[in-house]
Amino acid sequence: MNKYFYPLIENPYSNSDIRKGINVLKSKQLTLSNETKKFEKNFTTKLKSKYSLMVNSGSSANLLALQCLINPYRKKKLKKGDEIIIPTLCWSTSLWPIIQSNLKPVFVDVNSETLNIDEAQIKNKINKKTKAILLVHVLGNSCDMDQIMKIKKKYNLILIEDTCESLGSKYKNKYLGTFGEFSSFSFYSSHQISSGEGGMICCKDKTDYNIIKSLRSHGWSRGTTFENKIYNKNPHLDKRFIFFNSGYNLRPTEVAATVGNNQFKRIDSLIRMRNINRKKIINKLLSNKILKNKIDFYKENKFVTPSWFGLSVKILETKKNIKKTLVKKLEKNGIETRPIISGNFTKQPATIKYGLSKRKKYPNTDLIYNKSFFIGLPTKKISNNYLTKISLAFEKSFK
Ligand SMILES: Cc1ncc(COP(=O)(O)O)c(C=O)c1O
Repeated sequence: MNKYFYPLIENPYSNSDIRKGINVLKSKQLTLSNETKKFEKNFTTKLKSKYSLMVNSGSSANLLALQCLINPYRKKKLKKGDEIIIPTLCWSTSLWPIIQSNLKPVFVDVNSETLNIDEAQIKNKINKKTKAILLVHVLGNSCDMDQIMKIKKKYNLILIEDTCESLGSKYKNKYLGTFGEFSSFSFYSSHQISSGEGGMICCKDKTDYNIIKSLRSHGWSRGTTFENKIYNKNPHLDKRFIFFNSGYNLRPTEVAATVGNNQFKRIDSLIRMRNINRKKIINKLLSNKILKNKIDFYKENKFVTPSWFGLSVKILETKKNIKKTLVKKLEKNGIETRPIISGNFTKQPATIKYGLSKRKKYPNTDLIYNKSFFIGLPTKKISNNYLTKISLAFEKSFK
């Protein structure tokens, strides 16, 4: 039994998701085929992205974006040591593909109100080696995309949007993940939609699309626009198995694709439900006298129509180590919590081990880590009794 009465996510799969998954199992076609292609097509149509390719996780999508940037089949490929700007508030696999591609991350602090990269600080970090910005859209919110696009244009930078936490959010009515050359999405189980494990990468350029398609499948040419050209140069080889590029196997299964696609079809109602529940929970908690002036909530940035991942909570109390104590109590009282991504990533042991931390200070990210956390958002209608239970659990934890 779940030890939480308020988990990060309750079973996110509907009966029809399960039925679709079973039908795929029964068809015995489990490896990449029509279900994956259908999902990719739907994703492209809804987001108005140019190309979408499904992969086995959001992490794989980030890896493909970075690997594509250094790929020899790309006309303008990045070189070893080229710099990529990234917010300190990021996920592990937002960062590591940069290192794994022999590129250099340059950290920028975030805005403590929006949780996203502080646009004002980006310009100070730009030099001749700066080639790209990797944005992380945190928990459904977005930074000021007008500012980002201005910076991108002025300094001729590539933009990668890690949209793993923000599928469905819009900035000025345009979906996040459609601004940059590349974007990544995650369908891990607590995200806006879930396929168990799964992800999507979108890109704008036809050659990039075909490069990532080959990287996703062993580096072979089959099914890409390179296929005929490469074969004509190598007619002695079996056309089906010509490996013209480096590669991985990052393909999804058909079960993940069908479940993901089925959820994607109802994403608008899932977003609406989370938004309604978010408002109800905020109103309930803020009307509790004990909690008043002790907590507050992050709001969407200007021009953002959010698709909330979770409900991020700000602790207003100033006591030392307050967050650790509170989170412990909330967990004990049945509310599952998470840090806001992983806090200041330069403070994680891995970044220190790899010599990436450089002892620089990122006070806003530290503040967020020390004074905030997030809880899930149910995707089904919640009752008044349930709201009262949540409020009581918070009250008990803050006493
Ligand atoms: C910002 C961000 N990027 C990337 C990922 C990785 O996604 P996945 O778990 O699908 O590999 C996550 C995971 O939650 C994330 O929050």
